[in-house]
Amino acid sequence: MLYNALKLLHLLSIIVWVGGMVFAHFFLRPAAQALEPAQRVPLLHGVLQRFLAAVGAAVVIVLTTGLAMIGMVSMGGGFAMPWDWTFMSGVGILMMALYAYLYLSLLSRLDSAVAAGDWTAGGAALARIRAIVGINLLLGTAIVVAVLLW
Ligand code: HEM
Repeated sequence: MLYNALKLLHLLSIIVWVGGMVFAHFFLRPAAQALEPAQRVPLLHGVLQRFLAAVGAAVVIVLTTGLAMIGMVSMGGGFAMPWDWTFMSGVGILMMALYAYLYLSLLSRLDSAVAAGDWTAGGAALARIRAIVGINLLLGTAIVVAVLLW
């Protein structure tokens, strides 16, 4: 029961994180391209500030529930980690490192650009954020495919 509750929390957090990236990448950004930079950059900044704060909470939940499930299964001893769990943990940590770079470095750059009304610098920060979100989306999809198909 506890194990299933942890897995539920794990998956709900993944839905927020990966689902949010799908929405931002495929729906929000293409539609926002129709706006002038002076409207587009502050709009995407406001969206990203809120979304990335929620992803921060999701990252903490994914990591703690993932480690807790591994701890529960390995408690009896003689535990050999299945390869898909190893893949998920390794690639999951990489996704979290990319998220930290995005939140701590790129979002601050976007904050400063918006505060200064510098839409060129804001557009450049958004382009880098988009690249990192695209990579994390591919990595997250690869994990879900690996864990569910094998
Ligand atoms: C360091 C990070 C992570 C750790 C330690 C971890 C660990 C785990 C563990 C132990 C399970 C239970 C598997 C089972 O009961 O069969 C699980 C389930 C799952 N995780 Fe992760 N995980 C991590 C990150 C991620 C990420 C980033 C994703 C997707 C983007 C993800 C997607 C899933 C899915 C889809 C399941 C359900 C698998 C199933 O029930 O067959 N996990 N995770």
